[in-house]
Amino acid sequence: MSSTYRIAPSILSADFARLGEELRDVIAAGADWIHFDVMDNHYVPNLTFGPMVCQALKPHAKRADGSAVPIDVHLMIQPVDALAAAFAEAGADLISFHPDASAHVHRSVQAIKSKGCQAGLVFNPAQPLDALDWVIDEIDLVLIMSVNPGFGGQSFIDSALRKIEQARQRIEASGRDIRLEVDGGIKADNIRRVADAGADTFVAGSAIFGKPDYRAVIEAMRAELAR
Ligand code: DX5
Ligand code: ZN
Repeated sequence: MSSTYRIAPSILSADFARLGEELRDVIAAGADWIHFDVMDNHYVPNLTFGPMVCQALKPHAKRADGSAVPIDVHLMIQPVDALAAAFAEAGADLISFHPDASAHVHRSVQAIKSKGCQAGLVFNPAQPLDALDWVIDEIDLVLIMSVNPGFGGQSFIDSALRKIEQARQRIEASGRDIRLEVDGGIKADNIRRVADAGADTFVAGSAIFGKPDYRAVIEAMRAELAR
């Protein structure tokens, strides 16, 4: 299991009128990845932003020393392939999609990788992990939803912990270097439990952007992870 934990603030809960500044602020506060939630008002009821916004934000996804901060694109869209390619062109580093939103999951994974991006699969709270049986040798990331996708600020669904444990077992059995990310309802007071279940990467939207001091929240999360 990877010993490095990553915190991926979701800009879904950022101030959309000041996204570039929000990115810079949350990176200065210690963000490891930027989580970019793409919603299409079809696969999920909400509608957010597309590749042009990703492209506009890309120059802001940098630390003070100039090093790049990965943009972690979470596609909640159907179909997947055309927009996944557009996000790759727009500067995404990782692109994840929901297997139930693609008619040809293996093809969608290959399409993302052929653009030079890392590929991930996302599993909704009631979605089994079965697709992993057939593509675990191809992917770089597994993303477990701990809320139903579509909105920030929801409560963590506890059954996700069992699914994280199962995903961790499959990742270990594969022998591959695959990130295990969890998305939805993560806060400083539950992040330790999520890590104990086997997650190594944590999306947090409202917990970070809902507070005035992003650094204090990220540091509180890291303190829990270091316990
Ligand atoms: C929900 C999104 C999440 C969302 C999480 O569909 O995928 O990334 O931003 O928000 P919080 O952390 O507020 O639950
Ligand atoms: Zn997300």
